[in-house]
Amino acid sequence: MTVFHLSAECYPVAKVGGLGDVVGALPKYLVQKGVDAKVVLPFYDKKFTQTHTFETVYNGQSNLGNRGFNFEVLKETSNVLGFELYLIKIPGLIDRPDVYCYPDEIEQFIAYQISVLEWVIAQQIKVDVFHCHDHHSGLVPFLVNFSSRFDSLRNTPTVLTIHNAQYQGWFGWDKFYYLPQVDASKTGLLDWAGCINSLATAVKCCTVYTTVSPGYLEELKINSNNLEHLFEMESYKGLGIINGIDTDVWDTKTDTMIPHNYTITTQKKGKEANKKDLCAQFGLDDSKPLITFIGRLVLEKGADILPQVFSSCLEQFKGQVSFLVLGSGEKYIEEALAAIPKSENFNVFIGYDEQLSHRIYAAADFILMPSRVEPCGLNQLYALKYGTIPVVRSTGGLKDTVIDFEEEEEGYGIRFQNTNNEDVSHAIQRAITLYTNTKKTAALRKKAMGLNFSWAQSASQYIQLYNRLKTTI
Ligand code: ADP
Ligand code: GLC
Repeated sequence: MTVFHLSAECYPVAKVGGLGDVVGALPKYLVQKGVDAKVVLPFYDKKFTQTHTFETVYNGQSNLGNRGFNFEVLKETSNVLGFELYLIKIPGLIDRPDVYCYPDEIEQFIAYQISVLEWVIAQQIKVDVFHCHDHHSGLVPFLVNFSSRFDSLRNTPTVLTIHNAQYQGWFGWDKFYYLPQVDASKTGLLDWAGCINSLATAVKCCTVYTTVSPGYLEELKINSNNLEHLFEMESYKGLGIINGIDTDVWDTKTDTMIPHNYTITTQKKGKEANKKDLCAQFGLDDSKPLITFIGRLVLEKGADILPQVFSSCLEQFKGQVSFLVLGSGEKYIEEALAAIPKSENFNVFIGYDEQLSHRIYAAADFILMPSRVEPCGLNQLYALKYGTIPVVRSTGGLKDTVIDFEEEEEGYGIRFQNTNNEDVSHAIQRAITLYTNTKKTAALRKKAMGLNFSWAQSASQYIQLYNRLKTTI
């Protein structure tokens, strides 16, 4: 069974958020279970591509409308990731350092998708399933079924995994001519509210769509940035599969990015030592509960309320708690956080730092996630594995993976209802109170570290899905 994963991100090649983590891990677990899973990414001029060797497996030529382009398919030669990695390189279009936010992003992702399909048909590669992640490869299910150019791929099953339905890959009909020849009677499938909408098209044309948690599958029908009706209509082919974590990367016993490794039995000593180091670096009082936020500073994550929450909690719970933030995103949020006076109870690191994130997961006592929308959320899963208690808004994947310790016997986290100052401050107060009960805190930490959110289980659910698709065509 050959499955092509198409994505904009894949850790450690290119990562902006959790999409990268998932596409860097799931295929590896699929390969371990006997699936020939390959990942095809756009090429990025980044550390990974500069320090690994690649061979050219195909040179092709195609068009974006009347503009011809040459592309190269590069294969990573050492198989270091545990699956075959291919990169589509287009000089002057797909050969740059950043993953997103170029003014010609639409052209980049359309050219990427066309190139993948051109390569597959030119070399007659047998693909059993195209597995598309988010809108960046969302036109593939349409092109496979309705473009005469790719006739030989018609009816190949397509899976769309929705990691985030806020971003949909919209573009105007003036760019329709970038697409190869398509069946004119099917162009309505590209349209949503007068625009070409790559995500909506993918939902309409894919064989099955999955979401990264069962909770998010339901939420999309109520809140999906104007696609609610579509998700209601297409729900017969939707499936929620919770993400896992890559235990080769996220394991307190072996993590080389943290100064002090630990296990469930040595968690007390291990976490204390990591906390001491981290607090010394950031000038924080290590005798107080350390609450962290790690993530993109955007509305979706509820990061806009953090400056107010921290300021009022620093006042209300003076000297009883410390906060450390690691994040980057909206300028106004970065500035508001940076404007909070640094003290032994507050510090912030504006930027992206993979190693620091590992050190914080290992050192912190609690992780705060006041997300407005959270399709799955990996932070709380990493936190649990590192014995850091999640304090989360009850939504999407957070609701599916965090059980409140005061609501249910088997609980291990803290949940709250709304992304507002009042609810978050109350949850922080609960965390401070919990921390004073050292026995209870230690018991919850151990319970959290013992939970199993590994990919092994979720990968099996994807395999069942692939098998079902294979037998139904
Ligand atoms: P999303 O993909 O929506 O950003 P997730 O919780 O799925 O949210 O995944 C976020 C991933 O990105 C986690 O691996 C988290 O540790 C990482 N991350 C986010 N912001 C930063 C940052 N500033 N520095 C380091 N890692 C970060
Ligand atoms: C998205 C979502 C996040 C999810 C990640 C990986 O970025 O915002 O909740 O964990 O994708 O699926």
